[in-house]
Amino acid sequence: MSRKILVTSALPYANGSIHLGHMVEHVQTDIWVRFQRMRGHEVWYVCADDTHGTPVMLAAEKAGITPEQLITQAREEHLRDFMGFGISYDLYYSTHTEETKHFANLIYTRLREAGLIDIRPVEQFYDPQRKMFLPDRFVKGECPRCHAKDQYGDSCEACGATYSTTELIDPYSAVTGAKPERRLSDHHFFKLGACAEFLKHWTRSGTIPLAAANKLGEWFEAGLSDWDISRDKPYFGFEIPGAPDKFFYVWLDAPVGYMGSFQHLAAQKNLDFDAWWGVDSEAELHHFIGKDILYFHSLFWPAMLARSGFRTPTQLHVHGFLTVNGAKMSKSRGSFITAGNYLNHLNPEHLRYYYAAKLNASVDDLDLSLDDFTARVNSDLIGKYVNLASRTAGFIRKRFTGRTARNLHAPAEDLVQRFRAAGDSIALAYEQGEFSKAMRDIMALADLANQYVDANKPWDIAKDASRDAELHAVCTACLELFRLLTLYLKPVLPKVAMEVERLLQIPELSWEAIDATVLDQPIEEYQHLMARVDAKQIEALLAASSETVKETAHKNESGKNESGKNESGKNESGESKSTKANPAPPAPFAETIGIDDFSKIDLRVGRILKAEAIPEADKLLKLTIDLGLEIRTVFAGIKSAYTPESLEGRLTVVVANLAPRKMRFGESQGMVLAAGDGQGIYILNPDSGATPGMRIK
Ligand code: MSP
Ligand code: ZN
Repeated sequence: MSRKILVTSALPYANGSIHLGHMVEHVQTDIWVRFQRMRGHEVWYVCADDTHGTPVMLAAEKAGITPEQLITQAREEHLRDFMGFGISYDLYYSTHTEETKHFANLIYTRLREAGLIDIRPVEQFYDPQRKMFLPDRFVKGECPRCHAKDQYGDSCEACGATYSTTELIDPYSAVTGAKPERRLSDHHFFKLGACAEFLKHWTRSGTIPLAAANKLGEWFEAGLSDWDISRDKPYFGFEIPGAPDKFFYVWLDAPVGYMGSFQHLAAQKNLDFDAWWGVDSEAELHHFIGKDILYFHSLFWPAMLARSGFRTPTQLHVHGFLTVNGAKMSKSRGSFITAGNYLNHLNPEHLRYYYAAKLNASVDDLDLSLDDFTARVNSDLIGKYVNLASRTAGFIRKRFTGRTARNLHAPAEDLVQRFRAAGDSIALAYEQGEFSKAMRDIMALADLANQYVDANKPWDIAKDASRDAELHAVCTACLELFRLLTLYLKPVLPKVAMEVERLLQIPELSWEAIDATVLDQPIEEYQHLMARVDAKQIEALLAASSETVKETAHKNESGKNESGKNESGKNESGESKSTKANPAPPAPFAETIGIDDFSKIDLRVGRILKAEAIPEADKLLKLTIDLGLEIRTVFAGIKSAYTPESLEGRLTVVVANLAPRKMRFGESQGMVLAAGDGQGIYILNPDSGATPGMRIK
């Protein structure tokens, strides 16, 4: 039966870069989503940036831009990172939208009408200079226990003590340095205690992992306190209806962003919103989150939904935290790896596979050991999987006019049946989030396939022309096994799977295609599917990771978020990327052209061998570029953006068939492609692995 499934990943804060910890969650969600799509279910996957709160407001201020500008830039950067890892959202939106505002207001109003909102005064630190109330993280002072200076308002980094802000000795505002005052103001509270019975039941109804439910048990015993959902102005967020100058606390509207995003998608795709969010909805709602935000998702969020007339989540999929080489990601050790940095050095599908091999349904932390990563990717993906095709597809092309045999090699039939029969338990493992079990089962099959190859040695059979039929059948069987492995790995390796679909000339692999075959059909020429991980790439990644830290260290003062998370439980989402100048708005698109026009342009990968400044020209650099077939001289107007040394050795993209042009300093024999908006210049780089002379199309 086809299911209707709405899936979310937690919304990353707009004031931090995406790092490999976030990627655990988005890769985990994406694998599950892709698996469900392959099963033929109706699946929608939404995510968004979490944009509100004091840290965003202050980071924007510091960068001299508006919060709106900051969150626009952040979203672009986040989206680019996630796309790089092949995360297949149907929508990646923002919480700073009309839809989210609408539902935040609606939910709040309904809670108020149900008598679940209380208003009472709260005393808090206030910065008289900046005229704002200070979240705990923005008050600093001397630790009451060990007397270390400059500690945060909630905990001491020197001795680890936690305390309340009022205990700090000589407190000062981290925003202005001013001495803060104590001031009263009215706050709005959500009466969570009134939902305790509902929540006790809800959290024990299979919605969250048992270990997590037990943890919640402790909270129930301690008694659920009311939740402070308002903040005073100035605050970047939504104003509370009927309460001028009061804003929703960022965590109130953040989960509402799931709904707002879905509403936006529903309008695009003509979906019935109520069929997904109404109390009677038959659709499933799955949230993927980290253990640090369980409290918000298992108490506040379901209570808000249930008491305002909406459906509650079907299941929370809770994961643990990522460590790198056994330790918490650390900027000073250079193990704080951003998604962007990873993408500059390594193949995203390698990490997807590694995470899959480590992920299960528990909330345990998981470790990215870079040695283990290298060994596992090279042995499993290259050694066991990709090699299966690279060793056999060539024979089909060369010896059998690119057509597979009509029949399987008889001795392989049982093996193929065994591969098919494994489908159900692999599917169950995916369904339950036991990805590591799925990967183990798949690699055990890959071992069997390799034993079959070694027992039949196609490269030996190939030497004997009289055994052509056997060679044909053996290679065809290998491709059939390879096809089934690809199907099982497709949720994890979508890009490789797509290339295999092209290689084997088969329709997109769905789960049902287990029963199809590659018999008696043409295949394409084998093209390199995936390269090994090289220790040098890892070194380069780590070197670049410590570089970025040096650059960003000074920017990060107000990094911590105000959600009460601290070092022990929480991310380091500190660095602001708001120091860039505002880009000019993009120019309008040019007139439409046909593919014929486009294909007249011969674009090639080139390597810059030499770059020289021309003293008489203030814009030009003289580049000597290897285009594989020949070496060219190109004059490029990029002197303002690049030093000659920084270009040498780099790959770039060259228009190879542009008519040569005589210039004052010599002839320019082509053109280097670069992006620019009148302010900056950014030359294009193919991914590493490309070689000079490759055509770009
Ligand atoms: N904005 C909130 C979530 C709001 S959801 C309505 C938030 N943002 S976050 O950027 O700090 O974290 C987003 C997600 O990434 C969370 O689920 C968090 O658990 C996860 N991770 C952040 N750092 C992580 C690791 N080091 N390891 C694994 N997951 C981590 O919380
Ligand atoms: Zn201390």
